[in-house]
Amino acid sequence: MAIERTLAILKPDCVRKNLQGEVIARIQKSGFKILGMKMVRLTPISAGAFYAVHTGRSFFTGLVEFMCSGACMPIALEKVNAVEDFRMLIGKTDPAEAAPGTIRKLYADSKGENIVHGSDSAENGRIEVGFFFSEKELAENR
Ligand code: RTP
Ligand code: MG
Repeated sequence: MAIERTLAILKPDCVRKNLQGEVIARIQKSGFKILGMKMVRLTPISAGAFYAVHTGRSFFTGLVEFMCSGACMPIALEKVNAVEDFRMLIGKTDPAEAAPGTIRKLYADSKGENIVHGSDSAENGRIEVGFFFSEKELAENR
C-alpha cells in the first residue's frame, strides 16, 4: 500500500463544540502524521469551490452555509492508505449509519453537521491538501 495524503477539516460544529482536541487525539492515535494544520473562516466562494463536485445537489446551499458558519480547521494528513483509513476512522456521512467508535458516531448530530471532512480518493487527497496548504509549508513540517 502506498503512502497517501488526505485532507481532514474539523467542521464548524466541531470547533463550536470545542471538540478539536479530542478529534485530533483520535487522528493521531490512529497513526496519521499531521503535515499541516490551520484555522480558517471559509467564505461562500471558497466553501463552494471546495465542495464544487456537489454543485446543484439539494444539500449544496445548506452545506456551503454551514461550512461558512464559523471557523474550521483544515489538517493535512499523511499515512500509508490514508484516504481509506481516514474514512474508516470518521465513519459514514450520516452519524446514524456510522459504525460504533467512529468520530461521526461519537460526536456528530446529523448528516449535515457531521464534525469532520475526509477526502474520498488519493487524487482528491492531494488536490484538497493543496487547496489549503502550499507545498513549501508542508515540506517544512516533514
Ligand atoms: P465530506 O466530503 O464532508 O467528508 O463528507 P462525505 O464524503 O461523507 O459526504 P459527501 O457526499 O461528500 O457530502 C458532503 C457533505 O455534504 C453534507 N451532506 N448533507 N443532508 C444531506 O442529505 C447531505 N448529504 C451530504 C454533509 O455535511 C456531507 O459531509
Ligand atoms: Mg465527500
